[in-house]
Amino acid sequence: MTKKISLIGAGQIGGTLAHLIALKELADVVLFDVAEGVAKGKALDIAQSSGVSGFNIDLKGTNNYEDIKNSDVIIITAGIPRKPGMTRDDLLGTNLKIIKQVAEGIKKNSPNAFVICITNPLDVIVMALQKYSGLPTNKVVGMAGILDTSRFKYFLSKEMKVPIKHIKSLVLGGHGDSMVPMQNHTIINNNTLSDLIKEKKISKDKLKFIIERTKNGGGEIGKLLEKGSAFYAPAASGVQMAESYLKDKKEELPCAAYLNGEYGVKNLYAGVPVIIGKSGVEKIIELDLNSEEQKNFEVSIKAVRDLLASAKKIDPKLE
Ligand code: APR
Repeated sequence: MTKKISLIGAGQIGGTLAHLIALKELADVVLFDVAEGVAKGKALDIAQSSGVSGFNIDLKGTNNYEDIKNSDVIIITAGIPRKPGMTRDDLLGTNLKIIKQVAEGIKKNSPNAFVICITNPLDVIVMALQKYSGLPTNKVVGMAGILDTSRFKYFLSKEMKVPIKHIKSLVLGGHGDSMVPMQNHTIINNNTLSDLIKEKKISKDKLKFIIERTKNGGGEIGKLLEKGSAFYAPAASGVQMAESYLKDKKEELPCAAYLNGEYGVKNLYAGVPVIIGKSGVEKIIELDLNSEEQKNFEVSIKAVRDLLASAKKIDPKLE
């Protein structure tokens, strides 16, 4: 039977998600947006490309939550994107209100879906989404680590002149400024990044620059675009998560997942490697962290907790 993916938010990322899902024939697509015309217009535009691209799925645009009924996957990008000069934290107040409406729509119409959140500030918005919707924690997950890791791999591949396919890497922690690139889990042509530093194949300064550029990956693009923020790479990352769930691929992917004691963290969403299969988040992979990675991970967790404290001030119901 054809699967169904509903996209809440039909903006830049939502539209790109719909197009990628269509090209892969992953599922029928419902594009939902408060701006009804945008959702309908994009659905129709993408559907009209099927004559050229040859895909065979249904696309529908709507502003009615009843249309998301019985979705297998829901991907949320509803919200306002980060504008130049704006931190992820500034987005918090507005996007919390939006996510509350979205959570209620999902709870009422499609409570069995696997829900992937992309709206920023990611770690706190996905936590709020889980609390507002009451869906099980293994079915609510945030997209961040795949994107951060992909950006890191891209910059490394350019610097080291190695095809990106030959680089494996992992970024942990919160999305953005506090992310933790894992040097011992970054493998370039069978060597760890830590070894490559020792062998002086990459200087510490170059690596520091690459890490900073990765952390600021979204900011750099937002500044260039002037209007809106990154959307191609975020959408591709969201699709990878949806595909692993729908096809039960059990891929190991870094995602914002609910921690209940793993990594010594309780009752918080943060970026860790997880297995995504037909039951949602089927397992959280606990890696051994060296002392520096552990220290950076703790700084990252503190940043998420601090932002969550701000969210709880805005809405005490998040306690
Ligand atoms: N319900 C549904 N859709 C909404 C709501 C709502 N309550 N409020 C806003 N939207 C819609 C807007 O109408 C818009 O079409 O969300 C869409 C957001 O699209 P864009 O502004 O183009 O933003 P986009 O680049 O897609 O990013 C979305 O993802 O990465 C994050 O920081 C980014 O939080 C932002 C989100």
